[in-house]
Formats: sequence, structure tokens, C-alpha cells
Amino acid sequence: MAINIISKLLIFSIVLTLREQITLGQKWPLGSKRSNKLNECQRCKVLTDSFKTWIDKTSRGKHEGGDAAWEEAKLKSYARSEMRLVEIQEGLCSELKTHKDHCYALAEEVEVVLEKWWINENYDESDLYSWLCIENLQYCCPPYHFGEACNPCPLDSNNEICGGMGNCDGDGTRKGSGKCICKKGYAGDHCDVCAKNFYSSMNICKPCNEACNGCHSDGPDACDECATGWSKEFGVCVDINECSEPYVCKSSDFCINRKGSYDCKSCDKTCSTCVGPGPKNCTSCKPNDVLWSEQCINNNKLKELYRNAFIKTTFYVICLCILLMSTFRISLASLLALAISLGIYFIESSSDFNLFFVYKQYYNNISYF
Ligand SMILES: *[C@@H]1O[C@H](CO)[C@@H](O)[C@H](O)[C@H]1NC(C)=O
Repeated sequence: MAINIISKLLIFSIVLTLREQITLGQKWPLGSKRSNKLNECQRCKVLTDSFKTWIDKTSRGKHEGGDAAWEEAKLKSYARSEMRLVEIQEGLCSELKTHKDHCYALAEEVEVVLEKWWINENYDESDLYSWLCIENLQYCCPPYHFGEACNPCPLDSNNEICGGMGNCDGDGTRKGSGKCICKKGYAGDHCDVCAKNFYSSMNICKPCNEACNGCHSDGPDACDECATGWSKEFGVCVDINECSEPYVCKSSDFCINRKGSYDCKSCDKTCSTCVGPGPKNCTSCKPNDVLWSEQCINNNKLKELYRNAFIKTTFYVICLCILLMSTFRISLASLLALAISLGIYFIESSSDFNLFFVYKQYYNNISYF
């Protein structure tokens, strides 16, 4: 007798667990896929939202003329028909822009469960989420409930959850600890104090001044401590100019002071060291270059500059000679002309490429062609 009862109980419990295995879709547990960003409750929400969308899309609310009574009867029979379910399931998840894969995966898992819900006339369309996600799959909890048993989120002394400044951990899901996860700026078990670097002003937590590391009010003069990169002078936290220290940046960089910090930027490629951006802020040059009023000038360029300067001067002096000759100081003009000629000759004689040589080459090249 007793054995009979025990074996019946055993079979009954096996059937029960099997049934649960199927209805809960535990063949592919959703929680095991760790890589995705949606938790299983959110996935269920995505699916039920899509299902509702397709209920709407297949509603066929339009009466297209004809016998109104007959149309209505037809619509009524269509409302919960197998045909409409097939239409819904064909469209299900396809309208989504994000999380489509999650939606399809879950839709496949719960296909049978959804059919069961569809066939049973007592279920309300608007309750699909509660029915499927909360009760059947047990992925979610009602709002303001958390954890496996859907315990209510704890209330503070004002009968509020987290002082209205946060959510309880796991809110609406079967997960979480129920502890408060506070909004930015709030802290404490019930989000009833201000977080670090925030101060309370008329029960609102406001961020401290950027110069502060902890504060009791607004402004750089209300800091508990100065933030890094700032130092206290006469009770006020002021920015430290790191760039005034020597060797803050490496020698080929220049320093830019920022609020609470500084930046090192590369000098222009023509400079060796510099005080700012661009080729006109150099303080020293690379070998073979010379510094001319904050600009680095290459030696070859320098020779060219000198030669150009000399040629220009020569022309100016010749102009002066012509001017003098055309008036009265002919003797002075011829003296100047003589001096210039001698000067040119002197410079020419020390050069490999003097005037005669260049003309000779020019003549050779012309006769060559
Ligand atoms: C030189 O650097 C200063 C900043 O240190 C900058 O304001 C200025 O524009 C730079 N000069 C040139 C010519 O780029």
C-alpha cells in the first residue's frame, strides 16, 4: 500500500519537473549566455512587446463594406484564431531594429507556451508580460520587486524606495540584492546622503567645484581639500601652473597649462626646443640651423639669404651712382662704381663659380645642343 503511494508520488513529481523543464524553456537557459547586454527579463520584455505589436498589426480593424454583422462575426472568430497566431508568429521580432537575435531565440523557446496563452480565452492581451515573463518563465518580477522570490524593494523611513534617488538592485527582475543603486551624486543605504565630491543644497546633491576634492558648498573657496592639480592659496583652491616648473615636458615638447593639469605637445619639426606651437616659437635649433628671432633657418637657406641681400645692395648702390652722375657729383659716382667693381671682383675671385666660369659653362651647354 505504502509503496504504491510512494511510487505514484514519484511519478507525479517526475511529470511535474519535466513539465516545468519544458514550460520554463530550461533546455537553453538564457542566463548562461553571458556575452549579451540584455538580461533575461529584458529579453522577455522585448519579446512580449513585439508580440503586442503584431497583435496590433494583425487586428484587421477595418470593415470593408458588406454585411456589418457578418463582418463582425468573422472578425470575432479571427480574433483568437490559429490563423492570426500564425500571422503573429511569422512577423514576431522581424520589426525590431535592435536585439532581434535575442527576440528570435526566445520566441523559438517559448513558442509552445505562447500558443497555450493564445488559445486560452481568459488571458488578457495587456497581461502577456506578467503572464509570460513574471509568472511563467519567472524571468521578471513586478515593478519594485527583486530577486528569485520577487521580494519588495525595501522602503526607507519615508516609505520611499531609495529616497526617490535611486533604484533597488534587481528591480523588476529575478536577480539582484535589493540594495539601493543611487543616482549620480547620491550615496548611502537609502540614497539619503550626498556622494563624494557633492554637497547638499536644500536636500539636493550638487557637484563640488572642479577645484575641490570634497566640499561643503559651491565655489573653489568651499573645498574640504583641493583636487589634484590645484593648491590652496588664502583659502581658495587655484590651478597649479605645472608649466612654470622646469623640465615638465621632454625637451622637444612645449607645455600647455590646463585646469587641474597640463599637456605636453610636440614642437614644430623645424625647432629643437620651443615655447609654443608653430615654426616661429623656437628657442633652439637642430645642428646646422641657426635661430633667427624664434625661427630656425637652415644653413643653405642662410647662404641664399645673404647672397640675395648682397645682390639687392649692389643694385641699390648702382641706382645711387646713376642718381649722382645724372646730377653733378660725377667724381663721387665713379669712385663708388670703382669700389663696387673691386668688391664684386674680390668676392668673385674667392668663389669656385665666379662669373666667368658660369658664363663659360653656359656657352658650353648652348653649343652642346
Ligand atoms: C607661439 O606660441 C604661443 C603660445 O605659447 C601662441 O599663442 C602663438 O600663436 C605662437 N606663435 C606663432 C607664430 O605660432
